[in-house]
Amino acid sequence: MKNIVLVGFMGSGKTWVGKLIAERTGMPLLDMDALIVERAGKPINDIFAEDGEPKFREYERELVKELSETEGNIISTGGGIVLNPDNITDFEKKGLVVCLLVDAESVLDRVRNDDTRPLLAGDKEKAIVELLDSRKELYEALTHKIDTSGRPFPPVQTAEEIIALYESNKS
Ligand code: S3P
Repeated sequence: MKNIVLVGFMGSGKTWVGKLIAERTGMPLLDMDALIVERAGKPINDIFAEDGEPKFREYERELVKELSETEGNIISTGGGIVLNPDNITDFEKKGLVVCLLVDAESVLDRVRNDDTRPLLAGDKEKAIVELLDSRKELYEALTHKIDTSGRPFPPVQTAEEIIALYESNKS
């Protein structure tokens, strides 16, 4: 059985959508950020501050290699997974990769009170607009996309659309 791999910018709803799909299908949910935090023994903010972003990307890359060999899981990735095209190539071998698209306004709404994302420290709106702009093409190049901008919380509709897509792509 294939994995379902959720990709998308910060605040696109990957984790919540993953939880809803897990509830409905019984498939286990693996959250990459949570696994990296567990293994590094410190929060994402500390990994970035103490080890630097390149080290975080290495942890991420190693985990992709490992998880892309598994089957039947829902994998919620970090927003920067698209920065290395090998990550997507690896996940596509045994997984249905679905990208949740989102506009800057919706991201800001969803992460306004969140301080766990080092790349959004300082002027959040500016960071979101610039980072989203620099990555937009990478997200839009993916085969399966759902625009979640302005959709209500919890993202039930998005979860149901992904389950339907998975059912029709199962083999
Ligand atoms: C990042 C997204 C974060 C986390 C890290 C870097 C990014 O994950 O991996 O802060 O580069 O977009 P979420 O997308 O789950 O917030």
